[in-house]
Amino acid sequence: MDIIGSIEEMQGLSNKLRSEGKRIAFVPTMGFLHDGHLSLMREAKKHADILVTSIFVNPAQFGPNEDLDSYPKSMESDLAKSKEVGVDVVFTPTNDQIYPDGYETYVQLETLPNHLCGLSRPVFFKGITTVVTKLFNIVKPHVAVFGEKDFQQLAIIRRMVKDLNMDIEIIGGTLVREADGLAMSSRNSYLSKEERTEGLRLSQSLAKAQGMVAGGETNPAVIRKMAEEHISGCPEANVDYISLCDPETLGEVETITGPTLMALAVMLGKTRLIDNTVLVP
Ligand code: PAJ
Repeated sequence: MDIIGSIEEMQGLSNKLRSEGKRIAFVPTMGFLHDGHLSLMREAKKHADILVTSIFVNPAQFGPNEDLDSYPKSMESDLAKSKEVGVDVVFTPTNDQIYPDGYETYVQLETLPNHLCGLSRPVFFKGITTVVTKLFNIVKPHVAVFGEKDFQQLAIIRRMVKDLNMDIEIIGGTLVREADGLAMSSRNSYLSKEERTEGLRLSQSLAKAQGMVAGGETNPAVIRKMAEEHISGCPEANVDYISLCDPETLGEVETITGPTLMALAVMLGKTRLIDNTVLVP
């Protein structure tokens, strides 16, 4: 497995691989890898000859009061895990290379970021679409895999790739959960033992909602109320949003008539947890 820190070297290698007719798959990450990340890598391997992953904690997607400085890191174990799943190249650029002095170009969507996480994290998606565009230009993948855990991110990347005619196939990877249902996240490492247990209220609400919808419930307000009450059962939990929306436009639905995205964001103490599922009537 190669570890490449320089943009020029990564671009040179990708050019060489492409000229040899090799197909490149790419899984961008911010590191502190868990089984959710690794499942995307396993999926990506099925679609290409060479698997590149990146580890870069992107400052542009963190707001001023967010956890950029405390974001968990574990480069050594990340590299070991990457090697184990068969990653061929890990790209690990520095901040100064990605955002050198004088940097001023950003990629931004008009409306998809104005829902869900974008409402409480104003710079988040602008930072993501910018860094992902840059990483695409550096790694030059034929195919890239993003997790459904970050459903809105996946929708935004798909839209951006389509709108900007990027010649890259985008694949969605299934959300991976802990055995008890908690959605895997690098941020779960912030949770105390008690918070870790309370965190189950998110996946429990989604499971209850699926039961209600399968049983004929079509009113999103009824489902939202159930989830609100279940999550507020923990006094340390602060709901950011509980959304029942169209999986493509992310606009709120008034009646559940078909597959509907239920997405949650909750502050548990200082930790922001998100989870989602597509409810099917
Ligand atoms: P990060 O949070 O490290 O996630 C990297 C990829 O792993 C994303 O595509 C995310 O959706 C996926 N992922 C995270 N948890 C998952 C889970 N439990 N199941 C399945 N997939 C999961 O998302 C980012 O980094 C950044 O925004 C990035 C795209 C790298 C741009 O900086």
